[in-house]
Amino acid sequence: MSEFEKKKIIFIEKIKNSKNLPELTIINSEIFGKNGIINSEFKKLGSLSSDERKNFAANINKVKQELLELYKIKVNDVQDKEIIDKIAKEKVDITLPEKEFNIGKIHPVSQVIDEISCIFSEIGFTVEEGPDVENEYYNFTALNTPENHPAKDMHDTFYIDKDLKTLLRTHTSPVQVRTMLKGKPPFKIIAPGRTYRSDSDQTHTPMFHQLEGLHIDKNINMGHLKGCLNYFIKEFFEIKKIKMRFRPSHFPFTEPSAEVDIGYRIENNKIIIGEGDKWLEVLGCGMVHPNVLKNSKVNPNNFQGFAFGIGIDRLAMLKYGINDLRSFFECDYRWLKYYGFDPLDVPTNYRGLSR
Ligand code: DAH
Repeated sequence: MSEFEKKKIIFIEKIKNSKNLPELTIINSEIFGKNGIINSEFKKLGSLSSDERKNFAANINKVKQELLELYKIKVNDVQDKEIIDKIAKEKVDITLPEKEFNIGKIHPVSQVIDEISCIFSEIGFTVEEGPDVENEYYNFTALNTPENHPAKDMHDTFYIDKDLKTLLRTHTSPVQVRTMLKGKPPFKIIAPGRTYRSDSDQTHTPMFHQLEGLHIDKNINMGHLKGCLNYFIKEFFEIKKIKMRFRPSHFPFTEPSAEVDIGYRIENNKIIIGEGDKWLEVLGCGMVHPNVLKNSKVNPNNFQGFAFGIGIDRLAMLKYGINDLRSFFECDYRWLKYYGFDPLDVPTNYRGLSR
């Protein structure tokens, strides 16, 4: 067997065993390139007689053709295989269930805000919002809070800039003033939102949530306030009867002012709302002070009404049996999984608030 025949056999093997295009490119130049075996063989033609040349050249061309055929088939095979491998690698079995499927949960505070908004929207209240960063005027002065009122103390209020008189609102009451200033009476609004005070223990956190209510119209009186809150508490706790009492109190922005307690009792370590002889304070309220109306460009001789402020977190704790307020803000997913609500179960008036 000639050297050339031997090389041919080696390269047939090489082509067969090659696995990818880069390998094949190298083989290609080793066979068909300038210094490849084919060209090298052709160079020998010069030393042959003219009779010998014909057969010799014909044989080289035959081998060249043979190797070229084989080479092309192999390139096709390799390319096909690469595509098949790629498809196999990228294949997703869409029938497989997700291994870990975590449904997000609605935080009890958001849930309770939604529930309260539902309840009040049913009797004609709309929702307003105000900024978390307030100024002293809306947070205190416009709300008839005197210069030396203890609430203005640095220990309670987070001041942002004493000179600019900016602070984190200590309650949602400034939304009353903002709402009245931008519109004309009557007003019937609620304003849920974040509030801030420098306080922290089992029942206080530096950030907490309140909901402000305001109803201003002609001839609104304390009776309307009582009726409204009675309806709210019953709906919120999803009970038929509620024991409720109004205790005289004092707020600079209302006159008269009251705090509302609801009756409860403890049974098997659980709190039962609406009956029993224990009292729990749930909100502050009163008839809006004429000075607040004046500061809000509402004439107190023509219009009057009531306002109330509810601690949202407190109500959430009571309704859903959560005993440490701080846990609301710890962002512990296990806690949220336990106390949170299904995002698809949005509270509605007709279907029920909670389940
Ligand atoms: N702003 C009061 C607070 O943070 C709550 C409050 C009491 C709001 C009486 C009112 C109200 O609108 O009439 O303690």
